[in-house]
Amino acid sequence: MPDTRRFIDLRSDTVTRPTMAMRRAIAEAEVGDDVFGDDPSVIALENRVADLLKKEAALFVPSGTMGNFLGVASLTETGDEVILERQSHIMNYEASSVAALHGVQLNALDGDRGVMTAAQIEPYIKTQSLHTPGTKVIAIENTHNRAGGRIYPFDEMQRVKQLAERHGIRVHLDGARLCNAHVETGVSLAGYAACADTVSMCFSKGLGAPVGSILVSTQDVVDRARRLRKRLGGGMRQAGVLAAAALHALDHHIERMREDHKNAKRMASFVEQVRGLSLLFPVETNIVVARVDEKVFTVDALLGKLRERGVLAVPFGAGRIRMVTHLDVSGDDIERAGEALLALGRG
Ligand SMILES: Cc1ncc(COP(=O)(O)O)c(C=O)c1O
Repeated sequence: MPDTRRFIDLRSDTVTRPTMAMRRAIAEAEVGDDVFGDDPSVIALENRVADLLKKEAALFVPSGTMGNFLGVASLTETGDEVILERQSHIMNYEASSVAALHGVQLNALDGDRGVMTAAQIEPYIKTQSLHTPGTKVIAIENTHNRAGGRIYPFDEMQRVKQLAERHGIRVHLDGARLCNAHVETGVSLAGYAACADTVSMCFSKGLGAPVGSILVSTQDVVDRARRLRKRLGGGMRQAGVLAAAALHALDHHIERMREDHKNAKRMASFVEQVRGLSLLFPVETNIVVARVDEKVFTVDALLGKLRERGVLAVPFGAGRIRMVTHLDVSGDDIERAGEALLALGRG
């Protein structure tokens, strides 16, 4: 097993290790049995996030995948339809969870860099009949991972919510990186959350906690999600050690995401100078996706060369690589990673 601490690790913002201060918060956490509703740190976290997003209730869950599953499953019955974007995380990277475990049908639309407009969605909304499934949920993602950390325009999110209300259907927001959108646009987390009925948010990405996500919604939806979480084996006992890390992240790691965004833009400026590489998307937050000209080098060869120079990135579909900035990557690291890129040859 390679020791990845020696590398500038740009594979994902999930690779961060808890800071010393976060480890202290973990060590000092007050805990209890959360399945009995006894863990004060989990309760504090759930109340805090519900307040922050101005929703009635919240549920701490082990992962973003479970948060998305519980959000969608709590709003639907087996056989219902969910409209979502073709490149979304739910569609591509969650082992078909809502389809496999809850039996909903997914109707994937092609977005523009991850964004489906309300006008585009409307013709696909189905009313349940003897023949057709009823569309019950529209799922959107902000920021959008596969679209290179793209921010869903706030006014479009509002239009999607208005559309859903007109048709009596609900919106799930995969906000794994919602804080990145918030620090970049200044739109409050509550403002974003008002565009959705359920929101999942991750602490284990740019916020730098080791584990954990949260689902927020109305009390009755969260009650339903809590029971489904138990069914999945996601009821956690002294989970306060994890909730303490998440609380610490909310206190100390939101505003600093601006650094990650600045570093990602700097990384993008290096990409643009390398022969055989080009930016696939404009960089809006902390994700850089580059197109690789395979006449110059293959993705594998490129990643191998970067690795030899101490930089880790990941393949991201045919002819693409992804680099993500985060808490464990400094401005100096980005300069060094940029030098490793430039050493591949300037364009
Ligand atoms: C947009 C988005 N949603 C959900 C998830 C799932 O999170 P987890 O890996 O905690 O299940 C991820 C993970 O990278 C993600 O990027």
